[in-house]
Amino acid sequence: MVRQPGMQDGSITVRAGRPTDAPEIHSLIEAHLREGHLLPRTMSDLHAHATRFVVARQGRRLVGCAELAPLSRSVAEVRSLAVDSCSRGVGLGGRLVAELRHRAQRDGFGRLCVFTHVPNYFIRLGFAIVPHMSVPEKAQNICPMCPLFARCGQHAMMLPLNIHRGGADPEQRL
Ligand SMILES: CC(C)(COP(=O)(O)OP(=O)(O)OC[C@H]1O[C@@H](n2cnc3c(N)ncnc32)[C@H](O)[C@@H]1OP(=O)(O)O)[C@@H](O)C(=O)NCCC(=O)NCCS
Repeated sequence: MVRQPGMQDGSITVRAGRPTDAPEIHSLIEAHLREGHLLPRTMSDLHAHATRFVVARQGRRLVGCAELAPLSRSVAEVRSLAVDSCSRGVGLGGRLVAELRHRAQRDGFGRLCVFTHVPNYFIRLGFAIVPHMSVPEKAQNICPMCPLFARCGQHAMMLPLNIHRGGADPEQRL
């Protein structure tokens, strides 16, 4: 759940993802694979993990998405952040990341990370560049399986969180 489901931002609505959003999330990610150096996602993966996403809709169109992916009990990752080119520059990307940050805090994660080619964007959102090995959950367990391992050019970035416990059971959220 996002903080206020259905909350309006002009004509743009941000809410938690649903399995029925999977085809449009897939299309948005596919459209920005190259520009965003995004990892491709399969429909079955997106269908299974749709509720980890926040999505933005403008009218009937899905114009933004981002996923909160747990890497461990203490670290969550921002994945698959994309905003349609027609809806950029009005703070939507920042708002999607803020919603993920709120979810991560609510669920008791201590840190929020992102692996990105656009570090300047995330610095504006409060993230700092860190060594890849400071996120061993990703660098040791996930990165070695990637075809671009050790040559992806991504920056590891981290945002410490103030934890507000009382959300999902930490044992259940992975
Ligand atoms: C990066 C992205 C999500 C930003 O979405 P957005 O809704 O336009 O972002 P916001 O409105 O919150 O922020 C816009 C500001 O960020 C800046 N910005 C956008 N992309 C940037 C980048 N790659 N590097 C640095 N700053 C960037 C803009 O210049 C703008 O600055 P301003 O407010 O001074 O005019 C969007 O450009 C996108 O989907 N890109 C392709 C996919 C991608 O790169 N995803 C990130 C993968 S980790």
